[in-house]
Order: sequence, then structure tokens, then C-alpha cells
Amino acid sequence: MDLESFRSQLEELRGRARAAVDKADDPAELDAVESAYLGRSGELRKLLGEIGKLPGEDRPKVGALANPIREELETSIAARRSRLNDIAYEVRLAREKVDVTLPGRTLSAGSLHPLIETQREIARIFGQFGFVTYESPEVESDELSFQLLNIPEDHPARDLWDTLYVAGSDRRLVLRPHTSPGQIRIMREYSPPIRAILPGRCFRYENIDASHGVEFFQVEGLMVDEGTSMATLHGLLDEFAHAMFGADTRTRFRPGYYPFTEPSVAFDISCTICGGTGCAACKRTGWLTILGAGMVHPVVLRNGGLDPDKYQGFAFGMGTDRIAMLRHGINDIRAFMDNDIRFLERF
Ligand code: DAH
Repeated sequence: MDLESFRSQLEELRGRARAAVDKADDPAELDAVESAYLGRSGELRKLLGEIGKLPGEDRPKVGALANPIREELETSIAARRSRLNDIAYEVRLAREKVDVTLPGRTLSAGSLHPLIETQREIARIFGQFGFVTYESPEVESDELSFQLLNIPEDHPARDLWDTLYVAGSDRRLVLRPHTSPGQIRIMREYSPPIRAILPGRCFRYENIDASHGVEFFQVEGLMVDEGTSMATLHGLLDEFAHAMFGADTRTRFRPGYYPFTEPSVAFDISCTICGGTGCAACKRTGWLTILGAGMVHPVVLRNGGLDPDKYQGFAFGMGTDRIAMLRHGINDIRAFMDNDIRFLERF
């Protein structure tokens, strides 16, 4: 072998190496090319290993021929490597692009059931007059539900409440048919002045229709103090009606009957649909009855542990479902218990 053929072999190696570098399109492939040509057992080393076949005076010239080619290949590999890194980075940037102008995902928040919302609104209004909220049990004794409220056993007034008895309790326990038994509980637990509302679920053995459910809600009210009068009751209920149904609402008291109040009244508001001129909703009367009320019967005060000669009180009871129906224009009480999400989402 002479120097000329050595040079042409070098030249040929250089050409193939450059082509392989340019063709490598990922870093691993480029590493393989690098070790194939410049590595310890790569082609360049092998060629240089044949230096012994050259005539003695040519051997010192080999370095001057081979070194520039090695440097050139190293430079082109480094350039190619940095180009591949750039490309990989750009690809990653494009793939991981975040569009900060996209709207965020909305959280779907729940809402209060319209009965609970109405119950809270009632509590809020009476709260402004110093009434606190008192909760009493849904499973109640027959004694507190009736006897202690001045409704003796076998009294015909019991027919006002179609009561559900708890099986196996020998008619001692009922699902409370109204929130009134809480009056006795609160009078026994606290001493006057008492100002409380008692909200909660009630149960009756009803024929179900658009205005009667087996389950429904009531809010009871009780105020007991020295000198509490019908005038206080009247003023309080007027304020409530105005706050709940608007300042234009007119109100009236009618005589009524409840065993636990004396005298007893029904409290009416001008019809929320027709404003009082008469329509189907108010049965052409212009009025809607929203609650029963009266002065707490002395027997009931005594059963609550209070002296009726010292203390007087008034009480009232309203159907939460009816209030909610009037506020929201709902015409079927069954909608509250159907759990139809399309209905509930409207509130
Ligand atoms: N408890 C009665 C009912 O369920 C409503 C009621 C009327 C409650 C008059 C009262 C009241 O406290 O004074 O029909």
C-alpha cells in the first residue's frame, strides 16, 4: 500500500461517515454512527492500524492526513447532535402546548332543596325578631302530640290529624303529624321569655293529591312571656307576610279552631297569583290561608310547666310546602319528594 491509496481510503471513509451522520435522525442512531467510525474499534482506528504496511518514510505523514478528517467528523457529529436535540425540544413544546385562553372547567355546585331553602328563609325572617330555631324529634310520643296539647284520647278533634302510629309501640309512639309537640318540649327545657321557631318534617296518613303528601314540612312558632298578646302576634305575622311575599301583601285574621290555642285564628294573605281580585288559585275569594295561630291555651302552658296567670304566649303553625309553592309558583306538592333532578336544579 502506498500513501496515495491510503489517502483515497481515508477519503472514501470520510464520505461514507458524513453521509451516515446526515442520515441519522435520532440521537441513538447518531451514537451508533459515531462509534462505528470514530470508536475504539471503529473504522478509522482500523485503517490507522494498517500504517505498518506503508513505506517507512510515509508513516509520519499519516497524522497530517487523518487528523483533519477526524476533527471534521467530530464537528459534524456534534452539530448534528445539537440539531437533533433542538428538534426533539420543539416537538415536545408543540405536543405539550397549554392553551391558557381556554375557559376553565366549571365546577357544578349543588343547591339547596326548595323546601330547605324556604325553611331557612322563614328562620331568617323570624330570626330578625329574636326567634331561635329549635328542633324536636320526628318520632314522637302520642302524649306530646295530642294529650298534652289539650287533645284527650277519643276527642273528636283528633280527626284533624290522620296519624301514623309506630308499629309495636301499642299506639304510644307516632310519626309526628305536626310540629306542635315541640311547644311542650321547649317550655319544659327553657324558661320564658321564649321565642322560637320549630321547623321539621311531619307525616300523615293522607290520600295523596296535588296539595296533600304523606310527608310534608311545617314551621311552628312559639312566643311565651309576661304580657304577650294577640296584638304582638298580629304585628309579627304582618311583618312576616310582607318580608316573605312583598310589601304590597294584605293580611287578615279569621276566627279558627285549634284545641291548643284559645282564641284561635286562621291567617290569610291576599292571593299571590291575582293580587286579591279572585282566581282559581284562591277559589275566587282573593285570599289564601297560610297558617293557623292563636294564644297558647292555659292547659298547654301548664303542661309545659308554666303558670298561666304569670305567662301568656302565642303559637302559630304553617306548612312549609305551601309557602314554597306560593313563592315559586309550584302547583303540585308531590314535586318536592319526587327527587326529579330537572325540577330541583331550577332552584
Ligand atoms: N298544628 C296545627 C296543624 O298541624 C297548626 C297550628 C295551628 C299550630 C295553630 C299552632 C297553632 O301552633 O297555634 O294543623
